[in-house]
Amino acid sequence: MRFQLLLISWLAAISNALNIMSLGDSIVGSGCWQAILWQRLNSTGLLQSKKIEFVGTLHSKQCGFAFDGDNEGHSDQLVTKVAEQNKVSEWLVSVESPDMVLMHFGTYDLLAQVSPKRILEAYTTIVEQLRKSNIYVKIFVAQILPIHSDACWNCNIKVKRLNDQIPSWASRLSKGDSPIYVVDQYDGYPSRNTIGGILPDELGDELFARKWYHAIVPHL
Ligand SMILES: *[C@@H]1O[C@H](CO)[C@@H](O)[C@H](O)[C@H]1NC(C)=O
Repeated sequence: MRFQLLLISWLAAISNALNIMSLGDSIVGSGCWQAILWQRLNSTGLLQSKKIEFVGTLHSKQCGFAFDGDNEGHSDQLVTKVAEQNKVSEWLVSVESPDMVLMHFGTYDLLAQVSPKRILEAYTTIVEQLRKSNIYVKIFVAQILPIHSDACWNCNIKVKRLNDQIPSWASRLSKGDSPIYVVDQYDGYPSRNTIGGILPDELGDELFARKWYHAIVPHL
């Protein structure tokens, strides 16, 4: 097992690409933020110099120009379901191991009245599954976007409760070889930049992409 892991890391080093996987629900999979992030990495030359590839079993919609839209943003998915059903391990079978993961997950759990505690337990399961695929994976976990849905009057209170617990969860799980970084996607995100109170609109996608960009660049 140990040998296999070493072999995999060695092969990853040879292929020399830096694989990034975005992971989450429709917030991750349905907008154009990844296109914006990709374009910024392209225009700053990092895409080429770091040989960045996005990996994932899904492919983003059209955003007006060609970009690398591979992702794991699964519409309406609950992170607790994904963890329970070992979905991440399943998806990882058919794509290259990510070196970096950008995870924004839990919105639909909160809409379904799942507790922040259970969401964090699901994050832990996913971290373990990601590390099985790459012991050196760097995991960027978002403090999630606000929810302003008429369907759930108290959801944003729960968003804050979840977000408040993410930093201590992350520092417990973070490791020297496989750090976990918290990316505050909530702070400064205006509630009006959403579709139905949940999905980012165009400006929301821009803000979302910008936060990811600034979070990952020092660690590329
Ligand atoms: C990506 O970068 C290249 C080289 O700078 C540029 O020619 C190209 O237009 C860029 N692509 C997009 C979609 O921005």
